[in-house]
Amino acid sequence: MLALLGATTLMLVAGRWVLPAASGEANLKPENVEIHIIDDNFFLKWNSSSESVRNVTFSADYQILGTDNWKKLPGCQNTASTKCNFSSVELKNVFEKIELRIRAEEGNNTSIWYEVEPFVPFLEAQIGPPDVHLEAEDKAIILSISPPGTEDSIMWATDRLNFRYSVVIWKNSSSLEERTETVYPEDKIYKLSPEITYCLKVKAELPLQSRVGYYSPVYCINTTERRNVPSPENIQINADNQVCVLKWDYPYENTTFRAQWLRAFFKKIPGKHSDKWKQILNCENVTTTRCVFPRDAFPNGIYYVRVQASNGNGTSFWSEEKKFYIEMKTVIFPPVISLKSITDDSLHVSVGASEESENMSVNQLYPLIYEVIFWENTSNAERKVLEKRTEFTFLDLKPLTVYCVKARALIENDRRNKSSSFSDTVCEKTKPGDTSKTWLKAGICTALFSLPVVIYVVRLFLRGVNYVFFPSSKPPSSVDEYFSDQPLKNLLLSTSEEQTERCFIIENASIITEIEETNEIDEVHKKYNSQTSQDSGNYSNEDENSGSKISEEFLQQDSV
Ligand SMILES: *[C@@H]1O[C@H](CO)[C@@H](O)[C@H](O)[C@H]1NC(C)=O
Ligand SMILES: *[C@@H]1O[C@H](CO)[C@@H](O)[C@H](O)[C@H]1NC(C)=O
Ligand SMILES: *[C@@H]1O[C@H](CO)[C@@H](O)[C@H](O)[C@H]1NC(C)=O
Ligand SMILES: *[C@@H]1O[C@H](CO)[C@@H](O)[C@H](O)[C@H]1NC(C)=O
Ligand SMILES: *[C@@H]1O[C@H](CO)[C@@H](O)[C@H](O)[C@H]1NC(C)=O
Ligand SMILES: *[C@@H]1O[C@H](CO)[C@@H](O)[C@H](O)[C@H]1NC(C)=O
Ligand SMILES: *[C@@H]1O[C@H](CO)[C@@H](O)[C@H](O)[C@H]1NC(C)=O
Ligand SMILES: *[C@@H]1O[C@H](CO)[C@@H](O)[C@H](O)[C@H]1NC(C)=O
Ligand SMILES: *[C@@H]1O[C@H](CO)[C@@H](O)[C@H](O)[C@H]1NC(C)=O
Ligand SMILES: *[C@@H]1O[C@H](CO)[C@@H](O)[C@H](O)[C@H]1NC(C)=O
Ligand SMILES: *[C@@H]1O[C@H](CO)[C@@H](O)[C@H](O)[C@H]1NC(C)=O
Ligand SMILES: *[C@@H]1O[C@H](CO)[C@@H](O)[C@H](O)[C@H]1NC(C)=O
Repeated sequence: MLALLGATTLMLVAGRWVLPAASGEANLKPENVEIHIIDDNFFLKWNSSSESVRNVTFSADYQILGTDNWKKLPGCQNTASTKCNFSSVELKNVFEKIELRIRAEEGNNTSIWYEVEPFVPFLEAQIGPPDVHLEAEDKAIILSISPPGTEDSIMWATDRLNFRYSVVIWKNSSSLEERTETVYPEDKIYKLSPEITYCLKVKAELPLQSRVGYYSPVYCINTTERRNVPSPENIQINADNQVCVLKWDYPYENTTFRAQWLRAFFKKIPGKHSDKWKQILNCENVTTTRCVFPRDAFPNGIYYVRVQASNGNGTSFWSEEKKFYIEMKTVIFPPVISLKSITDDSLHVSVGASEESENMSVNQLYPLIYEVIFWENTSNAERKVLEKRTEFTFLDLKPLTVYCVKARALIENDRRNKSSSFSDTVCEKTKPGDTSKTWLKAGICTALFSLPVVIYVVRLFLRGVNYVFFPSSKPPSSVDEYFSDQPLKNLLLSTSEEQTERCFIIENASIITEIEETNEIDEVHKKYNSQTSQDSGNYSNEDENSGSKISEEFLQQDSV
């Protein structure tokens, strides 16, 4: 390219080569080149150094940083204006650094290239305004928000579910009384008045990346006239042993109610989910202002419930939605241990399930491993054993010495590493010295290993089996197989202090990251990630100062 110009015609002005004027006019070059990226729209803007009326155009090239393979930037060739739209550029991914250069052209003459500071498109991208659809009820507005960018957006492919939306709403008649709410893509704004014009605007944010988007245009809608069948109010849900009790307030008699539930993660997925609401059994056509359903009607997770009233005058709008959390905790009880002195130099430890845990109902069994800590009473030196068995023999001990032991149970292969608390400490003195100990050791150890009954008891949540005996210290392989099918990693385990299963309420339904929705969100991410390319994996940003690491961390953080 340089060759085209001929060395003698080049001038260096302010560190940049410029096109010399044909007839002594001002130098011609693009200046102040800026890149603007909004969602998947890419724009280049610059100023021309010359106000000249000459037939000057501009053209730009791009390449992946360091590839030395310049390509013409589509939409930015022979442009007469001082901006161009290069949204049609095909980037394999938006996390790679791009180099871009632009020059002025006049006939066959061209300026030197003006090189733009290399940039990572994802980091330059701004969040555009979301698309909003509104529907009115008498005291609420239903919002359906489409995430910024198109459905097949490359820019936000891994972020579509992470957007948080904030709504500013006001009565058109008094824009001073603004209210700001954080909402899901599919959500409702409550506590409005009938027959009022409300206006609102919405912006999207990516909180983990500290990015705030542009506000949508202002949308206005009138609420409807008051329905003559009011909605149930003050929805409450409480746990009572094995059941959840759903209650609400209603002022009139002779009304029937029905209640529905929705898994909370649907709210994070853009789109209409009205068909995902499910009837709660036992809460259909009830004439009381409460209904009761078994806690095990729901798998572990976060839900919404809503209630509707019907009477001779018609049907109400749905009540406000109440968020609640059904949690089934796996409680691991501390084991019970016994310590027997066998010989002068060994002690035998048996670890078993506690009596209280044997009474618990169990629906799933998990393979436990035991951590046994053994020490001489007068010393701090501990021996620690972590194994999947219940019988342990500690050898090479001193005669007539007090040794102590405590143990706790852990679930094997559990990534959360949850465990029971430690058992009580049990101490025992070794026997006095004995010369015939050799045969004893061999004989007794063998005998003991086959004797005890191993009890695996994990309190989970429901379904039949109380406890299971395994007549050897290791479960048979068929049992192992059964165990390995269990979704261990999704357990919510607790320590023994929290031995209740609860269905409790999340009072403040303020949003998204506050609670674990482990498998739900995993599912959602799986679904959405599968839509994105292979490239959605581990990008890390070379620009260490820009603060955000672009990787699936963003997804993971939301789910934890
Ligand atoms: C171009 O110049 C105008 C005025 O000369 C200025 O207002 C504008 O900000 C400049 N644009 C850029 C991209 O520098
Ligand atoms: C610009 O180009 C057009 C034709 O391409 C020509 O008619 C016109 O004279 C040119 N203007 C200048 C200032 O060179
Ligand atoms: C930029 O170009 C894309 C397609 O290449 C188009 O969809 C978009 O509307 C354009 N934007 C503007 C502001 O012209
Ligand atoms: C190109 O530059 C040469 C000298 O540098 C000049 O004579 C010629 O007029 C220029 N051509 C155009 C189209 O401006
Ligand atoms: C531009 O260059 C081409 C060959 O490089 C030549 O054929 C053409 O006449 C030139 N045009 C002008 C306006 O100098
Ligand atoms: C909002 O109020 C203004 C004046 O108060 C009025 O001109 C406008 O039409 C109203 N907008 C809607 C959507 O009612
Ligand atoms: C909304 O209500 C206002 C009066 O509050 C009325 O002027 C306007 O026509 C209504 N708009 C619609 C779409 O019904
Ligand atoms: C409710 O229904 C019963 C029987 O249908 C009727 O006797 C009673 O008056 C009704 N109560 C009200 C408040 O409508
Ligand atoms: C509840 O009422 C509706 C309409 O009256 C009816 O279709 C439905 O079968 C009833 N369901 C139950 C469980 O009674
Ligand atoms: C219907 O509404 C009227 C007043 O709006 C009320 O008096 C009546 O009790 C309602 N009927 C039922 C069945 O609730
Ligand atoms: C276990 O249940 C039995 C009877 O079902 C009862 O007698 C015993 O006290 C219970 N043990 C514990 C620790 O709750
Ligand atoms: C363990 O040692 C402490 C003193 O270190 C003593 O008070 C205690 O009685 C010993 N326990 C047993 C079971 O001997």
